[in-house]
Amino acid sequence: MTTIVHVVGARPNYMKIAPLMEALAAYPFRQVLVNTGQHYDDMMSRAFVRELCLPTPNYDLGIGSASHAMQTARVMIEFERVCLAEQPDLVVVVGDVNSTLAASLVAAKLLVPVSHVEAGLRSRDRTMPEEINRIVTDRLADVLLAPSQDAVDNLLAEGESPQKIRLVGNIMIDSLLRHLPMATLARVQDRVAVSDRAYAVLTLHRPSNVDSPETLRRILDGVLKIADDMPVVFPVHPRTRQRLSELGANHSHGGLLLTEPLGYVDFLSLTSHARLILTDSGGLQEESTVLGIPCLTLRENTERPITVTNGTNQVVGTATADILAAYRRVPEVAEHPDRPPLWDGKTAGRIARVLSEVLST
Ligand code: UD1
Repeated sequence: MTTIVHVVGARPNYMKIAPLMEALAAYPFRQVLVNTGQHYDDMMSRAFVRELCLPTPNYDLGIGSASHAMQTARVMIEFERVCLAEQPDLVVVVGDVNSTLAASLVAAKLLVPVSHVEAGLRSRDRTMPEEINRIVTDRLADVLLAPSQDAVDNLLAEGESPQKIRLVGNIMIDSLLRHLPMATLARVQDRVAVSDRAYAVLTLHRPSNVDSPETLRRILDGVLKIADDMPVVFPVHPRTRQRLSELGANHSHGGLLLTEPLGYVDFLSLTSHARLILTDSGGLQEESTVLGIPCLTLRENTERPITVTNGTNQVVGTATADILAAYRRVPEVAEHPDRPPLWDGKTAGRIARVLSEVLST
């Protein structure tokens, strides 16, 4: 029987694989789920498997945290064993994390076709580890599943053959639209006492932002000013938690309300009722666009420019004055936002059709 191996490893992967595995269940394929364990805290990994109704992973590689080289190498060593045991006809990788890169390298060298969901995004900033992961994964992949036309254009400009590229839309929006009806503010109000459209949500985890005490301080100075106006809820990533402790800023202060990382639906509850989102996450730029909530991206660039041209995103950088200037001009929440083409909740079905076509040729 045709075997497809799916790879997840870090928090932003689970919501991309869940709808795809479900859509592929209608086809006569054997599906194997591999969790690399790049993320391992319950709220960063297993909680997402449960909540998104992913099957229990067939393999838990237990890789954990390490330097980039070590983490990538460990995934490669363990994932090679999985591929040799399972003899897959196709490996599906998603996004741009180290597990994505590692699994692609292993599959390509074993001559197993690779399909990359979220192909073609580019920030053109090679100081971001994710940019390296995107470029290498796309170079190795046989099926390039692009979320937006700009991603298709990037791949063509890099010389990829048009036959390998399919514009399928954004699969993360499948998960978002499916879970939105259960994302009520009441779910989170026991932990953060906020009212509808009267608070901001902040997330920060990029090494360039949180590993530099000066940059982290500049961002926090801006955020604390905003928190004088309206509460800012800040679910803290484990990497950021360590850095905040080093600055002595690891506790709620005035209007800045720190929480543990939240589960998928709880976090969606929080974001979908917010007045404003401040973030350095890629996925959240896309989610806020679909939700119509203004998003200030605390980075110098984005690999998701469509969220600026067709969405609610503004790339504002990390200078305190720039954050506050953008905050003063923030537009209203759009109650009926326009979505980029094919961000319609039906991407998983389109990908399943493409993969079935590819596997039958
Ligand atoms: C990784 C991805 C990033 C993604 C992010 C989402 C890469 C290069 N980076 O970054 O693209 O946006 O996940 O969260 O793949 N830690 C824990 N528990 C965990 C996971 C991490 O405590 O479950 C701590 C560890 O101290 C670890 C640090 O967070 O060293 C960073 O984790 P890591 O997986 O290396 O990178 P992220 O910053 O999470």
